[in-house]
Amino acid sequence: MSTLLLFLAFSLFSFSVVDAEDPQLFFNWTVSYSLQSPLGVAKKVIVINDQFPGPVVNLTTNNVVEVTIFNKLDEPFLMTWNGVLMRRNSWNDGVQGTNCPILPGQSWTYTFQVKDQIGSFFYFPSLGFQAAAGGYGPIRINNRIVIPIPFDFPHDDFDIMIGDWYNMDFQDMRASLDQGHALPKPDGILINSLPPYKANFTFQPGATYRLRISNVGLKTSLNFRIQGHKMLLIETEGSYTVKQYYSSLDIHVGQSFSVLVTANRPKKSYYMVASSRFVSKMLYGVAYVQYSGSNRIRTGRLPLGPSLYNYDYSMEQARSIRWDLAVGAARPNPQGSFHYGLIKITRTIVLQNGIAVENNQVRFTINGISFIYPDTPLKLADYFKIPNVFTIGEDTDQPTKHTPTLGTPVIDAYYRDFIEVVFQNNQSSIQTWHLDGYNFFVVGMEWGMWTPTLRSTYNMVDAIYRSTVQVYPLSWTAVLISLDNLGMWNLRSQDIEKRYLGQEVYMRVRGENLNAIPDPRDEIPIPANIIRCGRAKMS
Ligand SMILES: *[C@@H]1O[C@H](CO)[C@@H](O)[C@H](O)[C@H]1NC(C)=O
Ligand SMILES: *[C@@H]1O[C@H](CO)[C@@H](O)[C@H](O)[C@H]1NC(C)=O
Ligand SMILES: *[C@@H]1O[C@H](CO)[C@@H](O)[C@H](O)[C@H]1NC(C)=O
Ligand SMILES: *[C@@H]1O[C@H](CO)[C@@H](O)[C@H](O)[C@H]1NC(C)=O
Repeated sequence: MSTLLLFLAFSLFSFSVVDAEDPQLFFNWTVSYSLQSPLGVAKKVIVINDQFPGPVVNLTTNNVVEVTIFNKLDEPFLMTWNGVLMRRNSWNDGVQGTNCPILPGQSWTYTFQVKDQIGSFFYFPSLGFQAAAGGYGPIRINNRIVIPIPFDFPHDDFDIMIGDWYNMDFQDMRASLDQGHALPKPDGILINSLPPYKANFTFQPGATYRLRISNVGLKTSLNFRIQGHKMLLIETEGSYTVKQYYSSLDIHVGQSFSVLVTANRPKKSYYMVASSRFVSKMLYGVAYVQYSGSNRIRTGRLPLGPSLYNYDYSMEQARSIRWDLAVGAARPNPQGSFHYGLIKITRTIVLQNGIAVENNQVRFTINGISFIYPDTPLKLADYFKIPNVFTIGEDTDQPTKHTPTLGTPVIDAYYRDFIEVVFQNNQSSIQTWHLDGYNFFVVGMEWGMWTPTLRSTYNMVDAIYRSTVQVYPLSWTAVLISLDNLGMWNLRSQDIEKRYLGQEVYMRVRGENLNAIPDPRDEIPIPANIIRCGRAKMS
């Protein structure tokens, strides 16, 4: 058989969305409001099947997932799957640039495969500041049985959702932002949607637990620690890390970490703390770790974390988190067999955040552009070739000196490119960036302005590979991305206030031979159930 025929046979075989042998899982979720008062003040909380946090989505590599969401809110809704790679399937990413919303009273079924991935993630509502009303929940992707995990099997797993919380109604918060007011300080920190001193995790003496911790908050970085216990870091957003003990971990908005904790202390109860970082008022989320067989409730002082504005501690810790080259994650071959440091960088994109004032409203920008959504999702406009929905331009690649503008830019990129993205933070607040559809190698992080000569300081061997990264004030973070996933992908500030006010962009990754014979790398066909809206309604 000729190579072409072989290629074709392979293509046709693997072109289907779903391989018959991959197990399928089905979820029916009703999304509705529930009046709850986590911090003593009642507000509308978004619940999933009446739960807050929502149910755990417990998956195994290669599972095919169908989630039907019934929208019982009074406004449009979309759920997004933070850190789930959605391979070749931005159709199901659930953000405003890829999907039309599920209207009130309607339902929609997301279908995606968690291919080639393991790890800890979370889902959250992506539209119109709804994330301020909860609606989030944990996602686990377990290893297939044939793939060993690089640590002893834990006694149990706990999903721990930590985040800042506002007592204000989310629709009022949104209206306040629309009127040009900045978000006030949060009212507190929740752990699994519970106020301080209410959540309780029971440990069997001697047992080891895996804690899958995600910062699901709106904007506050948190320091996580357990009194008297060291945490062995094992995973961040789907990558196994070099195992190291930490007495506390900074977890920035949108990030997920897995740690192992062994109940090797006297049989008592201990504080679990998530405290705010880099804000003028210290807020504490507090839970108990209670050893079974002990009824004594812990009292007294909380364990101390790093001092509030100690950025150096935080940056040094970030740099200490490295990829374990020797172990396999979703595949049997070791993570380190992908030698990213040997690949030639084909393009450099420098993204600088900024602030602009537009019609008396503060807007946040990337390279001088504050993102606004058109009436039609960019993904649908691209597919149906509807003009004038978004703009493509090389000017997205570098910071500009011209006056900030509103716009709908898309970074055009090609499959197989290996790009360098530098996040330059010229502001005095910390930033977190997240890219859908991808993980990236976090090769560098340093104070000051980035210059090309600083590439010599990059970690080109075992940089951590994740989907969400922080950028400290007046500093830069550099990441490398192997563009192996076709689609329209959201690159966003995970700080919801900045994102809502324009700090996001999309990256379209496309093949070189568009519309040629079907190729296994192509994006899957448009789902038959896709919702149409805007100018895509007629197409
Ligand atoms: C989801 O709901 C549909 C329609 O009510 C029902 O047919 C189906 O069995 C449900 N699936 C699950 C997994 O509950
Ligand atoms: C999650 O799925 C795994 C693999 O199927 C199973 O062993 C485990 O018990 C499940 N955990 C929960 C909490 O459902
Ligand atoms: C936590 O749960 C355990 C087991 O149910 C119980 O004995 C203990 O009193 C609880 N602790 C707190 C602080 O609620
Ligand atoms: C960012 O800060 C640096 C250093 O202060 C300055 O040289 C540069 O002009 C700033 N860029 C913008 C766009 O503000």
